[in-house]
Amino acid sequence: MINVLFVCLGNICRSPMAEAVMRDLIEKEKLHDKIKVDSAATSSWHIGEPPHRGTQDKLREYGISTTGMQSRQLHKHDFDQFDYIIGMDENNIRNIYTMLGNPDSPKIFRFLDLTDHRMDVPDPYYTEDFQETYDLVLEGCRALLEKIKQEQKL
Ligand code: 4NP
Repeated sequence: MINVLFVCLGNICRSPMAEAVMRDLIEKEKLHDKIKVDSAATSSWHIGEPPHRGTQDKLREYGISTTGMQSRQLHKHDFDQFDYIIGMDENNIRNIYTMLGNPDSPKIFRFLDLTDHRMDVPDPYYTEDFQETYDLVLEGCRALLEKIKQEQKL
């Protein structure tokens, strides 16, 4: 099994959006018995909470469910359990290094560095623009799935 972890600050806006969109792409390509997806927060602020209402509503518009999802914090052992550990922004990457160590590991990288945008995923908790974030997340997930398929020979 290939394990993918998306990480953001609160695990209620961006990383659960990426988790749900990625899972949807994986199911459509019938790769769900090969790739598993999860998400986590660098902070402890929203542990146990479901995704933000704006993330839930945006995903529902695209037929993607968030049922059962809840925020959890990143743990040190996540480094060993996941093959891809993806930060939504540069601050997340710095915090991942602090929490997990291994700053030289190629399995830790910033999400949109996989695309031509090479930028942080805008945080809709502040921008309130869940559409902008969704569009970038979808582009990032498509790029990530291609990378995984290539690297894992799927
Ligand atoms: P996220 O967004 O990291 O994409 O889940 C945020 C969620 C909560 C807060 C900040 C950003 N907060 O300050 O509580």
